[in-house]
Order: sequence, then structure tokens, then C-alpha cells
Amino acid sequence: MKIMTVFGTRPEAIKMAPLVKKLNEDPDIESVLCVTAQHRQMLDQVLELFELTPDYDLNIMKPNQTISMITANVLTGMEPVLQKEQPDMVLVHGDTSTTFVTALAAFYQQIPVGHVEAGLRTYDKYSPFPEEINRVLTGHIAELHFAPTERNRRNLLAENISDDHIVITGNTVIDALLQVADKPYEFEDETLRSLDFEHKRVITVTCHRRENLGENMEHIFTAIRDIAAEFDDVEIVYPVHMNPKVRDTAGRILGHSHNVHLIEPLQYQPFVNLMARSYFIITDSGGMQEEAPSLGKPVLVVRRETERPEAIEAGTVKLAGVERDTIYAMAKELLTDKAAYDTMAHAANPYGDGKACDRIVAALKEQLSAAKSIAAR
Ligand code: UD1
Ligand code: UDP
Repeated sequence: MKIMTVFGTRPEAIKMAPLVKKLNEDPDIESVLCVTAQHRQMLDQVLELFELTPDYDLNIMKPNQTISMITANVLTGMEPVLQKEQPDMVLVHGDTSTTFVTALAAFYQQIPVGHVEAGLRTYDKYSPFPEEINRVLTGHIAELHFAPTERNRRNLLAENISDDHIVITGNTVIDALLQVADKPYEFEDETLRSLDFEHKRVITVTCHRRENLGENMEHIFTAIRDIAAEFDDVEIVYPVHMNPKVRDTAGRILGHSHNVHLIEPLQYQPFVNLMARSYFIITDSGGMQEEAPSLGKPVLVVRRETERPEAIEAGTVKLAGVERDTIYAMAKELLTDKAAYDTMAHAANPYGDGKACDRIVAALKEQLSAAKSIAAR
């Protein structure tokens, strides 16, 4: 049974790494790993941490790449790899352009696709952009859907995807988180080493979404700058995404505040430790909305919507929108109202128990051996 896993960006790599390790260890499975390298440095950080060596590396990343560039390069790059390997199934993850285009490339070769982290929806075509449509289209190509939650399963059923093809697994990000969160860790980064986590309140920030580039990002960063100016006991740590558009705006608005630290993207292990030692988090990341409830850290999500309402229901995540005044007011509330803070700061686990990868491997083996025995008849 040959399974090819394909991913290209940091979050896909973090969420697929524990699964690839399980596939590699399984004696019944021949596991092939292909990376598109839609991200280069941020992907390599994850490959290094989880000690994964890809069998294929399309190396497509270009500075300031457009979605069309990613699409064309992944589609043409995947074709010969799929033709050569002819896997029984291709596994993709989530909602990036690597995900959707790899699914499309596999479909063109009539190779079945398994979609990990299936069924999340905002029902807004342009937000997140282009991820909502990437995820919907991948779902309609896929044969097997690994849905993190019951809500995700229901979203798929509502699109006439057969229940027989859906498995509820939990989110593999919890598998990854548990593999690194419990290990003792001391920061190597000089800025992080110099921070006084005991007497200061550290706010971790990340922001990168395409629909936030430009005006929204200016609002978000200005609100954060205002919070930093007002609260002496606050230190803001922002490992800045490598997108040059993000870096320009972050440097311009946040680069001159003494208690705002703009640093390079962190390896997953230091980053998880940073989140765990923070007072709260401000982000537009998808994955961090799933990690933070497990860590018991309040999150203000700087987006208008989320495809992860479970984290809001769990109480640790709030939508703060993209307006300067609202973000500032919500961050200030967390810093000044202990009761409001305590309501959010509790551990919850809507995204699973860290065994998502076991469930995925078991379901893969069951489905593929059933398909093979039908074919043999
Ligand atoms: C991509 C995904 C998004 C995902 C995000 C995770 C698409 C369309 N977007 O968005 O869904 O949430 O990754 O971070 O699939 N860059 C580097 N080095 C890196 C990574 C990026 O230099 O390691 C720079 C490059 O100039 C690149 C730019 O960042 O052109 C943007 O990368 P891209 O993958 O196009 O978009 P993201 O915003 O990262
Ligand atoms: N992350 C990391 N280092 C950082 C910032 C984030 O390892 O400097 C991790 C984070 O814990 C989460 C993932 O990267 O698991 C989120 O990736 P990103 O924000 O790029 O994408 P998104 O989650 O929005 O798709």
C-alpha cells in the first residue's frame, strides 16, 4: 500500500509531520513524502525539527509569489511525480494552494485523495482567501475525509459527501503539540532569553493572512502599538512571517516601540513554549486557534470570521475583528479585567486527544484494503 503525503507550507508541515512519522513506521505502508516548498525556510524549520527528509522537493517558492504562480508550479510539478510513483492514495492537508492544486493534480491522474483536516467552513468565498474555496474544492475531489470534529463532519454531509467516506479524527495539530509541549525547553533566541516572563506580561502576536494585507494589517498593528505604549508591564513578541509585505508593514508600524520585539519565525518547539509562557495571544492564524485552547491561553483572533467556532465555544478564543478600536479595547480588557481574563484562560480540548494520526492510519488501511479486495474479485 503506497501512500504519498504532499505539503508545502509551515502549518501543513506541522500538522502532517506526526502523520508521516506514523506512516513511515508502519510495515504495511510504503510512505512517500513530497514537498512543494511553497514555503522554503519556514517549511525547512519543521522538516528539521521532526527529522523528515522528503523524497521529492518541487522547490517552487518565489519572492512575492502570486496564487496563480503557486497553482501553475504545483500543478506542473506534481504531474511527473504522481506518474512515476502511482501511489494508492495521495494525502493532502487543510486549505492552502498546495493542498488544492495537489488534489487537482492527483485527480488528473485518477489517483484517490485523502483530505486531512476536512470540513471546516466559513461559507464566505473571500474570507479566508483563497483558503475557503481551496478547502471546498479539495473536499469535492477527495475520496476520504478526515474531519477533526463532529461539526466538520456535518458540514461535509450538508454538501452531499457520503458519511461512509468521513472519519472523525480530532486535529493532528494536537498530536504535534503534545510531542513538543511536554519536553523541557530553554529558549536559545537572545530576545526570548532576555524577557522577564515572571514580572512582565508577554503577548504573542502573529499575523499574515492575505485578506489582512494592507489596511486591515495597519489597523491591527496600530492597535498593538497603542497597547504596548500604554502598558509598561507588557512585552509584545512577534515572530514575523517571511512574507515581505507583512515585514514592511510590521517594521513600519511596530519597529520603533521599545517593548515590541519583532523577531524571525521561530522553530515550532520554541514557539509552543513562547505561547505557553505568554499572558495571551493576538493572531490571525488558523492553527493557533486550535493550539491555544489546549494551552489554556486566551486568543484574540484578528479576523472577521473563523472556520473554527469550536474554539470560541470552548471560551478561550474571541473574534476581535480587524478594526483598530475594537482590537485595542479587547486587548485592554484582557489586561485590566482579571475576571474577563480568567473566563478565557482555561484549558479546553475541542480539537482532540493527540491520537488523530492513529485514527487516520487505521482508516487508511481499512479503506484501501477494502478497495483492493473488491478490485481483486
Ligand atoms: C500561505 C497559504 C496560507 C497559509 C500560510 C501559512 C496559500 C495561498 N496561502 O500563505 O493558506 O495560512 O501559507 O503561513 O496557500 N516566504 C519566504 N519564506 C518562507 C515562506 C514565505 O520568504 O519560508 C515569503 C515569500 O516571499 C513568499 C511569501 O512569503 O512569496 C508568501 O508566501 P505564500 O505561501 O504565497 O503565502 P502565505 O501568506 O505564506
Ligand atoms: N508557528 C511556529 N513558529 C512561528 C509562528 C507560528 O512554529 O514563529 C506555528 C504555530 O504554532 C502553528 C503554525 O505555525 O502551529 C501556524 O502557522 P501559520 O500562522 O503560518 O499558518 P496558519 O495557521 O494561519 O495556516
